[in-house]
Amino acid sequence: MILPTNKYKQIWDPFVLVMTIVVAVEMPLRIALDLPLHGWFYFLDTFISCVFLVDLILTFFTAVYVNAALVKDPKNVAQRYLKRWFIIDLLAVLPLDLIFGSFMINARLLRLLRLAHVATFMQKVAKANVINASLLRMVFLAFWVSLFAHWAACGWIAVGAGNITSEWKATHGLLYLRSLYWAVTTLVTIGYGDITPVTPKQTVFCILVELLGAGLYGYVIAIFASLIAKLDVARTHFTEQIEKMNTFMRFRKIPSDLQDRIRSYYEYLWTSRRGYDEGQVLSELPDSLKIQVSLHLCSSMIEKVPIFSGASEDLIKQIVAKLKSAIFTPGDYVFREGEIGDSMYFISRGQVEVVSKDGQTIYATLSPGNFFGEIALILQQPRNASIRALEYVDLYTLDQGGLQEVLQKFPAFMAHIHDLAKKRQDQFTKL
Ligand code: CMP
Repeated sequence: MILPTNKYKQIWDPFVLVMTIVVAVEMPLRIALDLPLHGWFYFLDTFISCVFLVDLILTFFTAVYVNAALVKDPKNVAQRYLKRWFIIDLLAVLPLDLIFGSFMINARLLRLLRLAHVATFMQKVAKANVINASLLRMVFLAFWVSLFAHWAACGWIAVGAGNITSEWKATHGLLYLRSLYWAVTTLVTIGYGDITPVTPKQTVFCILVELLGAGLYGYVIAIFASLIAKLDVARTHFTEQIEKMNTFMRFRKIPSDLQDRIRSYYEYLWTSRRGYDEGQVLSELPDSLKIQVSLHLCSSMIEKVPIFSGASEDLIKQIVAKLKSAIFTPGDYVFREGEIGDSMYFISRGQVEVVSKDGQTIYATLSPGNFFGEIALILQQPRNASIRALEYVDLYTLDQGGLQEVLQKFPAFMAHIHDLAKKRQDQFTKL
């Protein structure tokens, strides 16, 4: 069975979709302009028929997802296909005009039924989460509206194109352009009235397009307005948060330099994590997923931290599950020398300085991948230095309770980390 994730299938599906769109554009226009199915048109038509036939056969051998479970059983896959898409795909591929003769010449328009696959394809793209969902829906809607305008233009040509002058009828291109202009102005309810129906057939067609246009126009405008509002939910939500904070700061007359610091903190929140609080996002997930996401978020940091090199995957998972994120703004003290230590810290982003109690002497500058605060935590003694943020810093903290839980399960790691704390203490007191 072919898996939906198969890389050739991932190329094949969009290719079939493009072919479907080519049919949806080319066939109505060819029929409207009454062009014979010769030469290039014949080649294209046969080629697309073959593509649709191959796709129909491949579908019988492609595993599908049903309620998030992969169904690979060929019988099950075939049954599902026969019940749903098979009839549509079969009608689209059968050369009905050859079977039933020339009176079924327009039966090939049944190929347009395959456009139903466009919606399924869009759902797949939405699931892959590679593009903003609202933007995708807008593209989808724009596609249908454009296709509909094209069909209306083809229909207008087919019914005789009203009072379009003979100059515009000189070439197929000009005739199509003028008809498309009529279709668009009618659909968007502008209707300049320069192109009007002449025969009863044209009048009926015109009424239908006008009615559809009025409905479609209102619907599209309403949907677009709501999609634009939802285009960037994160940004809208975040802007609201900042607005609330600004109002509060004005109302409580917070000093302007402090206001600036708060605003720049919000800016950092946006650039570093799109305003989301990592802890809150994670708290909404079940434990197993939470650990996977935390592992992903901390992976680049963990790779750099020497105490984790050689640690088992299980141990790393346990530690990662206990980490909490924290942000410090430039100049903030994470803690001060002499304080009781109840946490250790891993630097994920930004730099901190190890400084003396008065903040005058700088002992070291620590960067992402470095850790600090383990000596007081493990050896149960006061902090031997102060830590000051040089810029915005993202830290992960591991507190006493979390560390103890991990150490109980991994006694060998306890000895290792204890040893390390002792060695580092000796090293730092010699400096
Ligand atoms: P702790 O004593 O808990 O709190 C201060 C921390 O700074 C200390 O643990 C070490 O992790 C770290 N530290 C102290 N001195 C230095 C130094 N000279 N270089 C790097 N890190 C240091």
